[in-house]
This record gives sequence, C-alpha cells and structure tokens, in this order.
Amino acid sequence: MALNPYDTPRGRLRARAEATRRQFLLLMGGLASLGAVIFGGFESVKFLFPAATTEAPLKFKTDFTFTDLTGGVAGGKAKAGAQVRSITADRVTVVLDDAGIYAVFLVCTHLGCTPNYVTDVVSGSGVDPAVAEARGMRAGAEKIPNGWACPCHGSRYFIDSTNFYGPAPRPMDWVDIAVAPDGYFVIDRGNIVAYRQAGDTTAPAWRLLVDTQKNNGKTLGV
Ligand code: FES
Repeated sequence: MALNPYDTPRGRLRARAEATRRQFLLLMGGLASLGAVIFGGFESVKFLFPAATTEAPLKFKTDFTFTDLTGGVAGGKAKAGAQVRSITADRVTVVLDDAGIYAVFLVCTHLGCTPNYVTDVVSGSGVDPAVAEARGMRAGAEKIPNGWACPCHGSRYFIDSTNFYGPAPRPMDWVDIAVAPDGYFVIDRGNIVAYRQAGDTTAPAWRLLVDTQKNNGKTLGV
C-alpha cells in the first residue's frame, strides 16, 4: 500500500479536483477585480463629462406677449378683461384677473398629473358655482366657475388653484412670471411665489401688475 495518499488513483483524482477548484476561485477573483476596475473607470469618465439633461429648463418664454394677453393697458387696467392662457406642454396656466397676472404650475398635488383648465369646475362636485366664482377676482360679467380638473383621479382646483374636491391634499403652486424686454413673458417654474400647505385656502395676493409690469412682491408661504 502506498504511503503517499496521492499515489492512489482516488488521491490523484482528489488532487486534480482541488487544483480545479483553486483555478476556479482565482478566475472568479480576477473577474471581480476586472469588473471593479471597469465600473470605477466608467464612473470616473462619466464624472468628467456630465450628461446633458433631456428635461426642459425650468425657465421659459411664452409665445404670447404682455400686449397679446392684456390687449393693452388703459387707466392702469388691462383692456382685455379677465384672460386665461394654458401652456399645457410646459404645465403652466397664465391668469389675468382684476388684480393682475399670475402663473399656476400645473402639477397636481396628489400624484403629479397635469390638471386641465375647465370652465365648469364644480360640475358634478356638489359645490355651488358661486363658490368657484368667488375665488377669482373678476368683474361681474366675467365671473365663471373656472379652474382645473385633474384627469387622473378627479381632483378639482378653483381658479386661484385652491383644491376643493378629490384626493389632492393641497393647492397647486404659483410660480414667478415677468415681462422680458421684448414684451414676452418669462416664467420661472423653479421660483415658487405662492406655496400653501394642506387645508390652506388663502387666496394668494401675488400679482404681476399690469400698470408697472413689476410684481407686487406679495409671496405666500415661501
Ligand atoms: S394625480 Fe391628480 S388627482 Fe391624482
């Protein structure tokens, strides 16, 4: 009988299996190291060349001018009366009322869908149209129950963007709007001028004034 166990056919087989196992572990270790080097290198290169974002910039210019919206100004008031212009692609509605101009950021406060502007916002909600009319600063003949309805789960908002129906927990935000030197509006969705918590039904007083084309600085909750 051989003294060296590896001299037996069984021992030689076992030795070969152990060598194969060692090679396998070495191979796995090598692959893991290679993977770490490649991943680290890729991340370093990515850091040196930041990817351009495909999202639209938060600040944008409207395709209508101050004069288009207001119809001109006479006696410090807009000649056109109350106006609403929705820029759905950029998720903003511009509203002109008796006090001035404001811009509502159309991001439903429930789950972020884009609410649609409607002129019968109370329809089917059980809310009296007069309640919706009272939320807008408009001359008598222009009082309409307008606002926004969310297509996703049915939330409704008055024209001052206060939520009153459905799962939306709070009002939509107002964002900065200004007049550029060329007469077009510049809307900055990154600059919120009215932010309200759940249950806050205060009508924001912020406005871009039509007589001076400057805002009145009356921000809310920011
Ligand atoms: S996302 Fe608007 S109601 Fe749900």
